[in-house]
Amino acid sequence: MLDPTPVSKPRAIYSPLFAEIVGWGKCLPPATLSNADLSTFLDTTDDWILRRTGIRSRPISHAPVSELAHVAALHALAAAGLRPEDLELVVLGSCTADEQMPNTSSRIQRSIGARRAAAVDVNTACTSFMYAMSYASALIRTGTIETALVVGADTLSAYMDWNDRRPSVVFGDGAGAVVLRATDEPVGILAEKLGCVTEQRDVLRIKGMGTAYANAGVTYGSTEWDFDGREVFRLAVASMASAARAVLSKYGAGDIDDIDLVIPHQANLRIVEAVARRLGISMDKFFVNLERCGNLSSASIPVAFVDALESGRIMPHGTLLAPAFGGGMTWSAHVIRWGARVHPLSVSTTKLSSTNQTGLQLVDALRHAKGAAPSPCLPESSYTATAPRSATRQQLAASLFPLAVQAVPE
Ligand code: UT7
Repeated sequence: MLDPTPVSKPRAIYSPLFAEIVGWGKCLPPATLSNADLSTFLDTTDDWILRRTGIRSRPISHAPVSELAHVAALHALAAAGLRPEDLELVVLGSCTADEQMPNTSSRIQRSIGARRAAAVDVNTACTSFMYAMSYASALIRTGTIETALVVGADTLSAYMDWNDRRPSVVFGDGAGAVVLRATDEPVGILAEKLGCVTEQRDVLRIKGMGTAYANAGVTYGSTEWDFDGREVFRLAVASMASAARAVLSKYGAGDIDDIDLVIPHQANLRIVEAVARRLGISMDKFFVNLERCGNLSSASIPVAFVDALESGRIMPHGTLLAPAFGGGMTWSAHVIRWGARVHPLSVSTTKLSSTNQTGLQLVDALRHAKGAAPSPCLPESSYTATAPRSATRQQLAASLFPLAVQAVPE
């Protein structure tokens, strides 16, 4: 039903110039998959993965993306000291939404109780959160809305081709969120540059997701990846470096000393190091958390925001550079100035539903559901709870995410 509550200010006479990040939160699932776990079912080693990516382990979710987003959102709201009713917009950046229709932001809007908010999904793969930030900030800066929640959340584990060692070792699951609020102070996004390398959209594709496959006998979840890792690597370095240069010149940064911290999309340590070399910026100025997160796709940068704040790397009024890239190949770079506050106003007690499953057990259940032989290191009894192969998709989802299906308040 349409909410008749009037907004606090007449919009026509208030057109703020900026959108400040006033709240932040994250949700990483508790189960993790180590490099040693991966080597139990793939032809790979801990040494290779660590050397080629900088990743030691990655979180694997037992819950759907909406539940991770729900928890991150409530933490961000608490940090902002705001209520769900204060939100006028919920934007989810994700390429692994729960359902194609209705969108998943509407599920988050309902589960957190943001009854006055519009709900929009944005999908530009790994850059989705940054594109969602641009979208929400633009609506605030035109005076259309005052307060927005922006979430970046992905659970690529559910769509991974676990037989393919190239993408399998890179990605993890998670969610991060920020709350944006209108202000006249020069904070939030100060400059941005968005783009897409159209000729190369085939180098990174998940086959099996989307309406193109709907009537072709392909089951959602039976996914294979087109993944030219080397080409993605090359494009990632080139596009992040050129986007960063472009946004710095747009911002008018005479030299890199104007930037206090670089928080890049965390895809691979070697990509980050190559971008740093191209820009002539010391790695000391980069924030990196991928050793224990892997590539969290659209959650990568918002989770890194929270980790950087918690480790004291973001200072009051600090200026950040956030370059990113993702499937498409989409790319972006943002110059963001933090506000005066780097500590949360309050802390939410909301937690993700618990699981006693390990990352390897969750991945083995996914592989089993997709028809792969179970990993030899797990007894067959581990699978008694999973649905038979003839099960409906809903039964499969319920067997893969039994706790999560009940846990998200509707
Ligand atoms: O966020 C957006 C998405 N991000 C990405 O797509 C990540 C971008 N790409 C990458 O991070 C890297 O390309 C990978 C980590 C995926 C691969 O690393 P690489 O250093 O580019 O490896 P490569 O593809 O050049 O392969 C080198 C060798 C090959 O063997 P040969 O042909 O030289 O004998 C591969 O078969 O390494 C082999 N290889 C592996 N070996 C052990 C590829 N994956 C693995 C693996 N374990 N997991």
